[in-house]
Amino acid sequence: MTRSVPVRIRAAEERDMDAVHMLEVASFTDPWPLAGFREMLDQAHVRFDVAESEAGLLLGYLIVLRAADEAEVANLAVQPAARRSGVAGALLDRYLGGALSEGTCSVFLEVRESNAGARALYAVRGFEPVGRRKKYYRMPVEDALVLRRVL
Ligand SMILES: CC(C)(COP(=O)(O)OP(=O)(O)OC[C@H]1O[C@@H](n2cnc3c(N)ncnc32)[C@H](O)[C@@H]1OP(=O)(O)O)[C@@H](O)C(=O)NCCC(=O)NCCS
Repeated sequence: MTRSVPVRIRAAEERDMDAVHMLEVASFTDPWPLAGFREMLDQAHVRFDVAESEAGLLLGYLIVLRAADEAEVANLAVQPAARRSGVAGALLDRYLGGALSEGTCSVFLEVRESNAGARALYAVRGFEPVGRRKKYYRMPVEDALVLRRVL
């Protein structure tokens, strides 16, 4: 059962980038480089949100890329110590709640087949499998499941 912690969600800024990248490295075996996050800042087609604690500590981030009436969840991670506290759910729900009014009809994402926690998180929010990308991930090599949520 998720225990809920107070979370503030806001647009990411340059001052968040070092902490975002540290969380990325702690969360993925094949992390994005720091420059990859900086490139996402202040772009009209990118939604880049951070969740922070009441004390201003980074708890998680969400990156969504928009194109026409579709969007893709490109990155999502939560601090290991803050997991199962509803942080990812809060980030996703806040984005999804406004996506239709931004003109997005479908949201896609890829997830490692073995990532049961993330798959459960997305399933609860109505994401359904629509495809598979063979050997999409490295370290270790693994298929991606493509999930879609129709809004
Ligand atoms: C996946 C991840 C983002 C989830 O973040 P989180 O803040 O812990 O997720 P939430 O607390 O909002 O979880 C909401 C629901 O998702 C499901 N869930 C999340 N993590 C789970 C896990 N490890 N095992 C089973 N279910 C899980 C549960 O249904 C959970 O509700 P519950 O706690 O009431 O059972 C986090 O574990 C993470 O950063 N993992 C490493 C990076 C990653 O895999 N990112 C996603 C790539 S597609």
